[in-house]
Amino acid sequence: MVYLDNAATTFPKPRTVLGSIFRCMEEYAGNPGRAAHPMAMRASEAVFEAREEVCSFFGVSSVENVIFTKNATEALCLCIFGMLRPRGRIITTDLEHNSVRRPLEVMKKRGAAIDIVGATGDDDALIRDIERTICPDTQAIVCVHASNVCPRVLPIEKIGALCRRRGIIFIVDAAQSAGIYDIDLSKIGADAVCFPGHKGLFGPMGTGGACFKDGFDFSRLAPLLYGGTGSHSSDADVGRTAPESFEAGTLALPSIAGLCEGVRYVKKISTKAIREHDAALYRLAKNELLSLGATIYGDFGEGAVLTFNMPRVCGSDVARSLGDRGICVRAGMHCAPTAHKALGTGGDAVRISFSPMNTERDVRILIDALSKI
Ligand SMILES: Cc1ncc(COP(=O)(O)O)c(C=O)c1O
Repeated sequence: MVYLDNAATTFPKPRTVLGSIFRCMEEYAGNPGRAAHPMAMRASEAVFEAREEVCSFFGVSSVENVIFTKNATEALCLCIFGMLRPRGRIITTDLEHNSVRRPLEVMKKRGAAIDIVGATGDDDALIRDIERTICPDTQAIVCVHASNVCPRVLPIEKIGALCRRRGIIFIVDAAQSAGIYDIDLSKIGADAVCFPGHKGLFGPMGTGGACFKDGFDFSRLAPLLYGGTGSHSSDADVGRTAPESFEAGTLALPSIAGLCEGVRYVKKISTKAIREHDAALYRLAKNELLSLGATIYGDFGEGAVLTFNMPRVCGSDVARSLGDRGICVRAGMHCAPTAHKALGTGGDAVRISFSPMNTERDVRILIDALSKI
């Protein structure tokens, strides 16, 4: 089998990730933060270790600023509904995944206005548009770091600097960038980055989180979930103490133990090496696809995600035929309808997405199958 759907979730995971999950389930799967017995203590230590790996990965020194969720979507909902007010204006882009677009639609129904800027031009044009759009009512910018449809990477350091100057909240959707592009919260100046654990960080599904900048005032964040936290049990209110007030309920300990090893794996091989690897595969695939007459969407250089269409066959049919040959790709809109519109795909295109586990051979098998289709 050839797996080229890593933007949805990476596969395979490193052996160290699998080993860590198995070890946790076998040796110390007590409930973290809920008791003082040895199993629960060992479990709490594992969660702490994972927080340490994640917070240093995102350039944050406060371990408690990592809030674990079950995916990037939940982290984005925590930040959007927990930080933003149902009034004023929120700026976003036309490259967003539904994980940003849909919560912002809810904010709109509740009374906030949404301003959408185009992000398929160059960085200068984007920054100019954002500057033009900011007004005294603007409370936040919520945007994707790297698109899940094309290799567009937004200049989040520049957007962050703008937000700092204008006193605006900045929330970054790092679903496609975490583990590939460098994200240093101390440089970006974003309030939070929302990340999936199961994509570029190589954790299992069911992991993700929001990492908040050092000094973030958690009294400004409302929890998404309410329930048991293992502390202050006599209080009726869940409180505003990071991380536990924002992680009500039992954590996905074995998955978090796996995520910890996933982050270590990325640190070990380095994001730079991962980017170079992805770029080489992108280059190869692009050249071969063009020679087959394919249309490739988004001229933004090379990246981990390449979306295309073949002449005369719709994207979904191509993906189905590839699937029949054991090649896993994803067709359709990739939960990003406005990105597809901006890129002119017609709403159905084939996406291939790479991980360090892919090789040139995978691309050659894909191209061979496409030439037959
Ligand atoms: C850009 C972007 N944002 C958010 C998400 C949602 O991530 P998750 O599936 O972890 O909720 C995805 C998933 O593909 C994505 O590509």
